[in-house]
Amino acid sequence: VRFLFIGDIVGKPGRTIVRQSVPGLIERENLDLVVANAENAAGGSGLTPVMAEELFAAGVDLITLGDHVYKRKEIIPLLERDGRIVRPCNFPATAPGITLAKATARDGTHVAVFCALGRVFTRPVDCPFTAAEEVLKRIGEESQVTLLDLHAEATSDMQAMGRYLDGRVTAVLGTHTHVATADEQVFPGGTAFQCDVGMTGPHDSILGRRTDRVLETTLTFRPTAFDVAKGDVRLCGTVVDADPATGKATAIRRLVVRESDIAEM
Ligand SMILES: [Fe+2]
Ligand SMILES: [Fe+2]
Repeated sequence: VRFLFIGDIVGKPGRTIVRQSVPGLIERENLDLVVANAENAAGGSGLTPVMAEELFAAGVDLITLGDHVYKRKEIIPLLERDGRIVRPCNFPATAPGITLAKATARDGTHVAVFCALGRVFTRPVDCPFTAAEEVLKRIGEESQVTLLDLHAEATSDMQAMGRYLDGRVTAVLGTHTHVATADEQVFPGGTAFQCDVGMTGPHDSILGRRTDRVLETTLTFRPTAFDVAKGDVRLCGTVVDADPATGKATAIRRLVVRESDIAEM
């Protein structure tokens, strides 16, 4: 089984390149499943039901979120009833939304997806390791392949989780920093790992937001509107191959689609 995990989709530019490239990527890369982190899809922060539908229509099968999960509160009813979108599993039990999503890939493999928030430089959350254990207990035998999106700020958080779960999940792939790391690898136990798969959105920016606005606020402390930038839109993602019989990853590679690639797709 082969799946693509797409990193933080930021605003309209991010959604647009997903729409323009994912159907072609499914063909070209023989993808059996597509998972995407969409916590920044709505104007750079949050996700709306209409945008979730737009991503599903483009070929995304399952959606993960992060610290911006509830920024657009109209998503909350959908989080409660749509089995395809997960909130971080280490929020309080009272937080709305489900923490485990399942899908059947095009080759028939049963896939389980969940996400967790790291603890370094993020809001205070429950222990992601304990929370991941709880989710793993619920996944059960029927899921052959499991992906954890670890939404974290620090590479130390990400590596600790990857090593902790090595051999017990198919992939631990990071999001949230919006910068792809060059450390994609399959750990000895068979878990595919990458600290951060990178951002799907405008790269002529600071983490997807207009450079001038972010700089002004950084330099003067005057608040500005951190509007989503426009230039150099890229889709950043990572492709993982796995053996459904063992649940172990066999290969991992980074993937980038630039605007100039779209015409050929
Ligand atoms: Fe993000
Ligand atoms: Fe985030």
